[in-house]
Amino acid sequence: MKVVIIGGTGLIGSNVVANLQAQGHDAVAASPNSGVNTLTGEGLAEVVQDAAVVVDVSNSPSFEDAAVLEFFETSTRHILTAMTGAGVGHLVALSVVGSERLPDSGYLRAKVAQEKLIATSSIPYTIVHATQFFEFIGRIADEATDEGVVRLPPVLFQPAAAADVSAVVADVARGAPLMATIEIGGPEQYRFDELVRKHLEAHGDPRVVVADPHARYFNTELDERSLVPGDGARLLPTTYDEWARRSAPQEP
Ligand SMILES: NC(=O)c1ccc[n+]([C@@H]2O[C@H](COP(=O)([O-])OP(=O)(O)OC[C@H]3O[C@@H](n4cnc5c(N)ncnc54)[C@H](OP(=O)(O)O)[C@@H]3O)[C@@H](O)[C@H]2O)c1
Repeated sequence: MKVVIIGGTGLIGSNVVANLQAQGHDAVAASPNSGVNTLTGEGLAEVVQDAAVVVDVSNSPSFEDAAVLEFFETSTRHILTAMTGAGVGHLVALSVVGSERLPDSGYLRAKVAQEKLIATSSIPYTIVHATQFFEFIGRIADEATDEGVVRLPPVLFQPAAAADVSAVVADVARGAPLMATIEIGGPEQYRFDELVRKHLEAHGDPRVVVADPHARYFNTELDERSLVPGDGARLLPTTYDEWARRSAPQEP
């Protein structure tokens, strides 16, 4: 089966490509690196020819409100048009748990716009809502740092390994369209500030992490359950400690 992975060179995309190739599928990574640009439409009609499934795990190079909205709206329109032209029967897209609950965030408004375009199109689809990736914790800390202090709200936080998220996305791509949004998250809940503190300490990072209920994340305040999935969510196997052990540099 030919599967086109938009954003197939990214963190999730490269894992999805490897996973599908290992299962014997013709997984094609599509991104500006390989001459496919969803924002301009360049190369899209050609790459989706003869595909059975398109997986969209691209991300906007800019997280600025207008740029990210333009990226997800325009790209999604181009992807849906190309899929309709080629008769591709399943679009799988990755979004964020809680996107619809956090309208103050420009990034998450853009993800909701992407999801709405997909759900209201005539193309069969499955949307996967994932929690934050362990790999993203360092960037979260950087974004939350002001004068050497990291401020984060002490809300529930249930991140997952990118490899586990990618395995679910690949699994969904192999299946029939669900015409629905499914939720996935990590196996353990932490407090947001607690896990970021643990992560920085494990990396010998001297920054102090302060629990501040009003600190903003992606430009929005959070409540206790903003970032965690609901009861029916599929929980992924890798814990933070296992992931940290595996990603630590190996002794010579
Ligand atoms: N970070 C999190 O914790 C989190 C949580 C839940 C969901 N998500 C979602 O997961 C998805 C993937 O995130 P990621 O961290 O894997 O992304 P990433 O590593 O930043 O990769 C982004 C990908 O998008 C591609 N891309 C950029 N501009 C493009 C364009 N104009 N046309 C086609 N492709 C383009 C890039 O291609 P080049 O390599 O050629 O630049 C790259 O392959 C995102 O949609 C994000 O919303 C993230």
